[in-house]
Amino acid sequence: MTGRSWDRVPIEAQSIDAPLSRAAVFLVVTVGGEQAALTKACAALDGLDDLVKTVGFRDLGARLSCIVGIGHGLWNRLDPGRLPRELKPFTPIAGPVHDAPSTPGDLLFHIRSERPDLCFEFERLLLDSLGDSVTVVDEVSGFRYFDARDLLGFVDGTANPTGLALPASALVGDEDADFAGGSYVVIQKYLHDLKAWAEVPTPLQEAIIGRTKIDNVEIDDDDAPRKSHKSLATIVDADGNEHDILRDNMPFGRPGQREFGTYFIGYTRHLWVIETMLQRMYVGVPPGAYDRLLDFSRPHTGTTFFAPTRPTLEALVQAAQAKLGAS
Ligand code: HEM
Repeated sequence: MTGRSWDRVPIEAQSIDAPLSRAAVFLVVTVGGEQAALTKACAALDGLDDLVKTVGFRDLGARLSCIVGIGHGLWNRLDPGRLPRELKPFTPIAGPVHDAPSTPGDLLFHIRSERPDLCFEFERLLLDSLGDSVTVVDEVSGFRYFDARDLLGFVDGTANPTGLALPASALVGDEDADFAGGSYVVIQKYLHDLKAWAEVPTPLQEAIIGRTKIDNVEIDDDDAPRKSHKSLATIVDADGNEHDILRDNMPFGRPGQREFGTYFIGYTRHLWVIETMLQRMYVGVPPGAYDRLLDFSRPHTGTTFFAPTRPTLEALVQAAQAKLGAS
């Protein structure tokens, strides 16, 4: 791997390394086109760390955290022309059978805690402070399901990088020094057809995912006619280096509405790594042999953001505020 090799998660990075929580809220908003909306949104972003303290201090053991990601369009309004090198809108994919749509989003708030009420309270106060400067595009409350399983019944998150591999995979390094310590974030909200999935025999479900269902053991599918999800999402470059990402997927749902979903969220040092995973999943390897997980899981959103370090976020917001104040 090239560039800086992190020996720890830098203190200035947002809480990307926060452990898998029991509860999470994924909030995506767009910011109004007027200057007043931008000014108000900047003020709310400026107060974000204080708001985490205000709510989080009420139960420190519940480890409330909030990561903010900024989309390409908003970043260009805040600091035109000076963007993280790979930041661009989510590229939609048209596969032979399944498509991945690109949907709007200026700001992503990834709110995590051991307690759903803390996530709720934080989101409530955050939206109060954003007021009419934003329009909510999507809001999902996720929960931990048994031993970190998705609603398809498989343990999700096992292959995530840990220790020193975590910042090396998830945080930008010297290759883009102005934005080092930040992270590209891609989200997709998937809805599952659980009825159809339940009709698939367990051995075939396991071949589709690439792990056994009960005990979560990896399945070698080198010689299998169709690659599993796990293999399609494994990215090895021309030099033989494997490129991981950090996922913090969460189940969500409303059984009364027959709504069952997985909120995919991936943090990555290089946006191209997630883009390549998506290409392999939707187009297939070889082309046509797409990820059969998609026969039972449909993406309803798809948006890319960049989560800068705290000092970069502060500088970005303060420079924009100074410009807005002067105009
Ligand atoms: C419906 C949505 C999805 C579900 C339910 C899902 C579920 C899973 C499960 C159960 C595993 C195996 C255990 C693990 O290592 O975590 C896995 C692995 C993985 N998934 Fe997904 N996934 C979804 C979407 C995605 C997407 C959209 C991406 C990337 C763009 C992705 C990337 C990965 C990666 C990188 C691995 C680990 C591969 C390895 O073993 O190295 N997943 N996923």
